Amino acid sequence: MSLLKEPDYGTPARKGDATVDVAIDGLSVTVPEGTSVMRAAALAGVDVPKLCATDSLEAFGSCRLCLVEIDGVKGTPASCTTPVRPGMTVRTQTPKLEKLRRGVMELYISDHPLDCLTCAANGDCELQDMSGVVGLREVRYGVGEGENHLDAPKDVSNPYFDFDASKCIVCSRCVRACDEVQGTFALTIEGRGFDSKVSAGGLDFLNSDCVSCGACVQACPTATLEEKTVVDLGMPTRSVITTCAYCGVGCSFKAELKGDELVRMVPYKDGGANEGHSCVKGRFAFGYATHPDRQMSPLVRERITDEWRPVSWEEAIQTVATRMRDIQSRHGVGSIGGITSSRCTNEEVYVVQKMVRAAFGNNNVDTCARVCHSPTGYGLKQTFGTSAGTQDFKSVEEADVIMVIGANPTDAHPVFASRMKQRLRKGAKLIVLDPRRIDLVRSPHIEAEYHLKLAPGTNVAIINAFAHVVITEGLVDEDFVAERCEDFDEWASFIAQPENSPESLEEITGVPAAEVRAAARMYAAGPNSAIYYGLGVTEHSQGSTMVMGMANLAMATGNIGRNGVGINPLRGQNNVQGSCDMGSFPHELPGYRHVSDESVRDIYSQLWGTPILPEPGLRIPNMFDAAIDGTFRALFVQGEDIAQSDPNTKHVFAALESLELCVVQDLFLNETSKFAHVFLPGTSFLEKDGTFTNAERRINRVRPVMKPKTGKHEWEIVAEIAQAMGYPMHYDSTSQIMDEIALTTPTFAGVSFDLLDRVGSVQWPCNDNAPLGTPIMHEGGFVRGKGRFMPTNYVPTKERSTRKYPLILTTGRILSQYNVGAQTRRTANVAWHPEDTLEIHPHDAEVRGINDGDRVSLASRVGQTSLHARISDRMPVGVVYTTFHHPVTGANVVTTEHSDWATNCPEYKVTAVQVGLQSPRLQAEEEQVAVPVAGS
Ligand code: SF4
Ligand code: SF4
Ligand code: SF4
Ligand code: FES
Repeated sequence: MSLLKEPDYGTPARKGDATVDVAIDGLSVTVPEGTSVMRAAALAGVDVPKLCATDSLEAFGSCRLCLVEIDGVKGTPASCTTPVRPGMTVRTQTPKLEKLRRGVMELYISDHPLDCLTCAANGDCELQDMSGVVGLREVRYGVGEGENHLDAPKDVSNPYFDFDASKCIVCSRCVRACDEVQGTFALTIEGRGFDSKVSAGGLDFLNSDCVSCGACVQACPTATLEEKTVVDLGMPTRSVITTCAYCGVGCSFKAELKGDELVRMVPYKDGGANEGHSCVKGRFAFGYATHPDRQMSPLVRERITDEWRPVSWEEAIQTVATRMRDIQSRHGVGSIGGITSSRCTNEEVYVVQKMVRAAFGNNNVDTCARVCHSPTGYGLKQTFGTSAGTQDFKSVEEADVIMVIGANPTDAHPVFASRMKQRLRKGAKLIVLDPRRIDLVRSPHIEAEYHLKLAPGTNVAIINAFAHVVITEGLVDEDFVAERCEDFDEWASFIAQPENSPESLEEITGVPAAEVRAAARMYAAGPNSAIYYGLGVTEHSQGSTMVMGMANLAMATGNIGRNGVGINPLRGQNNVQGSCDMGSFPHELPGYRHVSDESVRDIYSQLWGTPILPEPGLRIPNMFDAAIDGTFRALFVQGEDIAQSDPNTKHVFAALESLELCVVQDLFLNETSKFAHVFLPGTSFLEKDGTFTNAERRINRVRPVMKPKTGKHEWEIVAEIAQAMGYPMHYDSTSQIMDEIALTTPTFAGVSFDLLDRVGSVQWPCNDNAPLGTPIMHEGGFVRGKGRFMPTNYVPTKERSTRKYPLILTTGRILSQYNVGAQTRRTANVAWHPEDTLEIHPHDAEVRGINDGDRVSLASRVGQTSLHARISDRMPVGVVYTTFHHPVTGANVVTTEHSDWATNCPEYKVTAVQVGLQSPRLQAEEEQVAVPVAGS
């Protein structure tokens, strides 16, 4: 499509049933009460000139360009700040208004460089447009004469956008975007009158509080804030609407191109998940897609010690098929398997699990969700009947109490965090359960009511204590429980036992009982209380128990089944939800239906023409163990760097080294490919054609912006491997794959590319009962019928601090980097996070003689690494924290074999470690090798 310009109605929409009728330039229009005259005019088809107004921000009324005349009203009020009144008659074009507007524009232009023809924003500048609209023909005051800002400095410090102060009209749209939309409050207008100017807290953008979300760039009506890519490449000429491939928020973007070159990513206002907002990763960090490190041709080698040999697609595919079949003939049908990727599309994942089940002939398929949200799947299925978050993101706008548990939304789910912060600034109360003081605890205009700094590994103890307060203080929603739930009495009598009281558990959790009681009362009082959680819940030995504990608490207080409430997993990767939905687990066919269910197996065996085994296959950790035992011999890995991301690196390496055949499908030669015999180059999100499903079950289209640079789509390669193995698999297009998913999966029955093109996105279930999808689940009844209370005995993790390893390590993410960093490390995002560091409390640092920036060793009983220390009072005493974005650090060298009892999700969040100052000699040696991948 040509360049898509979305309409700008000037001021935000107002909600409500009450409406007002007005007449604007003789046109009648009915709008919700509280709508501005400017927006009403736009809805009537009349564009009022404007500069300081845009519909993502509340009206400010500073530019005086949008003046109108209103019958019975004196003067010329600003249409952006004037709400409609019943029966209003408005005129937007009169000789008087035209004169006033020309006067305003003349003043702006007299202090503006007149370099339109060479300006980066030429053709995309509202100042330029408005000059035309008001018919400005001369500037009487003389451009650049007298005092002016034409020599104002340029700030080019940010890697992605420039700030050219000489072009600023001080409309404050950037400041308001940073405050209202992003919630970072990094910008201010300094000074008054002629001296007023935009300031990033007196610093340059790079060193300010700015988090590079780009909202200010998007809001700026001039070339003052402009993407560097636009400066370098010129204005884009066409748009493709697609979906960000980083996190589980699933933001929609307009990919704007010039020819085949991506110029910029602009958040799409109609995007259901993001409504026009973005973060630094989705908006700017797309350079990895064209990074020279990308592999474009298939590679093959006999042994992992050999050099890679570039081969044709035919040879690579035949090699995989022949060697897979050969291994099966020698070691049995179950000796091979595959891992699907939450980075890939639903369609790509579906064909891999189909290849495993139909061509390999076993259920040895697992997904990287094993190591992140598999406990969510288990816990929510047991209690509610389906494995997914209950709400849409918009629901948070109606939450009164927001409880964030083991999640760091401002870093890991930034666009949703901005939405949550908007709600918190409007008065919702916040409870944070996290050992570490995440940014949300205290940020501009936000302060958590309670920050419960629980000891790592004690989630279940604390959620039981919350429930104990609810039960013993009579805070249960009796009607909800009686009507909609089962097994309450057994659970309640267990929870009411004294050992579950906040007082009894205080010593274990480290959280004062009074704080737990107060927070529990606040949650129970709501009236709308919502829980948002992340990997700090799931990546524990009791991850599944904790998910059920949260579900119990929500059911007991009636916080399920309407807007503003719910249990909401903040999914890490772009398509974790989808990869699980698509049947990636060894025990489940698509739609979370167990392989032991004959009626479900029949659907697939009939359609696929081959029987499906009724026994679950191997999970990832079982595959590793079996590889070391010699019974599992070949692995197909789709887009997951298991050698870096999975715990207990030594064990993973040993397993991978044991394989006869390891096939890696990825963008880059990653850590896992060091153990691979065949490398199949993959496609970036810009080349993919399919769908991602985000954390709110929203199925978004991923549209190809360009053809696959490797010559083949990933699903085509997988289908061709299956074919070469003798199993007929062929699709003409990805929409056919989605049609097969819809045909066989009841929750996807109504989904098709046609529907998505028509309505934008839908949240599953989408079928005859809900043709346009289901934003809120369990309204009126749970998917499993009655919500089931599940027992949640607290069992301490086996991983304990000891004299030798006295600290507990917990891990997490940082805003600018993403997971193992394969993409973000290959972008200019390295400006913010060039290496993983170890956060340590000042006391723990002092007793070890560690100063800020020192190189320290980090050792657990399974391994050792080293990194720079960052002394931080965000950490409690006894707990240290690091990220896992850089292979050079290899944080997972130290994580252990412990895992969730139900799902084997690794216990990344609790590792007993020791930290010590590294000798200067070792420091010097390591500094030499610790070089991150350079950005581009
Ligand atoms: S990029 Fe985002 S955080 Fe930075 S100043 Fe602009 S709006 Fe604020
Ligand atoms: S930088 Fe742009 S948005 Fe900000 S005040 Fe200047 S012109 Fe307005
Ligand atoms: S919040 Fe997530 S999905 Fe949205 S732009 Fe950022 S990384 Fe992409
Ligand atoms: S657009 Fe209304 S005052 Fe600027």
